[in-house]
Amino acid sequence: MGSRRLRLALVGFGHVGRAFARLLPGAFARGLRDAGLAPVVTGIATSRHGSAIDPRGLDLAAAEEIASQGGDLRQLHRGRPPRGTLEFVASVPADVLLEVTPLDPRRGEPATRHVRRALERGLHVVTANKGPVAFSLSSLLVLARRRRRRFLFEGAVMDGVPVFNLVRSCLPGVRVLGFRGVLNTTTTRILAGVESGRRFEDALADARRDGVAEADPSLDVDGWDAAVKTCALANALLDASLRPDRLARRGIAGLRPAAVRAARRSGGAIRLVARARRAGRRVAAQVGPERLAAFDVLASERADGVLVLETDLLGEIGIYQGPSGVEQTAYALFSDLLSLAAPRR
Ligand SMILES: NC(=O)c1ccc[n+]([C@@H]2O[C@H](COP(=O)([O-])OP(=O)(O)OC[C@H]3O[C@@H](n4cnc5c(N)ncnc54)[C@H](OP(=O)(O)O)[C@@H]3O)[C@@H](O)[C@H]2O)c1
Repeated sequence: MGSRRLRLALVGFGHVGRAFARLLPGAFARGLRDAGLAPVVTGIATSRHGSAIDPRGLDLAAAEEIASQGGDLRQLHRGRPPRGTLEFVASVPADVLLEVTPLDPRRGEPATRHVRRALERGLHVVTANKGPVAFSLSSLLVLARRRRRRFLFEGAVMDGVPVFNLVRSCLPGVRVLGFRGVLNTTTTRILAGVESGRRFEDALADARRDGVAEADPSLDVDGWDAAVKTCALANALLDASLRPDRLARRGIAGLRPAAVRAARRSGGAIRLVARARRAGRRVAAQVGPERLAAFDVLASERADGVLVLETDLLGEIGIYQGPSGVEQTAYALFSDLLSLAAPRR
């Protein structure tokens, strides 16, 4: 089968961006080729490592080497370097923008501006950044539709585990009425670490080392990340218009280690739980630590995340996510790219 060139531009080249770049030449490129697409990365933009554009395709191994050594990507650039990320987004020769900059839980910026600018100029956008989904989903979907492009964001919640795609593609005619879930990997790992006798700070350091914590880990600990994910899910699956800064939110910083251990000894667990439910025309949602009873699926010892959807036609559906890392988030970007090749549902 002949392949169509698929030019990709990465905005953000941190844990997720680099994992994607590492996996692209092997399994991801094979899967995309099978779908008739020949991927090439034509641009990478960062905050502190400059940006690089090469219409013929960048050397990804060299880009990773430069960024991980703290060097400047401009040495791979051809032509006049763009001034700032918005100019990069406006000028990079690409078909798809992959937005993987850090989460801003209070406004979703500058990621939303990057997404909007890319859609306006006719690029598809794929992101693992939940900020634009939580703050601006409906206007971005309208813009994408108007430009006949896709705005896809499977990696925004539960990394590579299909949540949005599950509902979009596999549950035709089903209405999601609500959900409850353990959605933030960092707090789950911290609480699981405390249960097994580790200090809070050490368990957090482990999560940071594994690359699963936000760039500012207080966003995880204080419940911001979970609040943004709750809004992203509620806005996408329940057609809500929630905003993270207006959600009832509590984090895990005030929890006593003895209480966390006692909950596990009793067969249950304390976890940071996100909830949302339709209530008439409104959607009520909240995030906070809860003591879960023994055998509650959310209390699973080995899960990084669990989501239970409450639906009208199928009752409860549970999604379990085992220990996961940035490769799973990179997979989400890949699966969204595959969706671009598939007929739209
Ligand atoms: N890590 C995970 O497991 C995971 C899982 C699911 C979703 N996500 C989401 O994926 C996104 C990326 O996460 P990450 O862990 O890869 O973050 P990260 O390691 O902090 O990397 C962020 C990247 O974005 C760049 N950047 C920051 N501001 C920018 C700007 N204005 N213009 C261009 N580039 C900019 C940074 O540049 P420098 O390199 O110069 O600093 C860096 O390369 C976040 O939104 C996160 O919530 C992450």
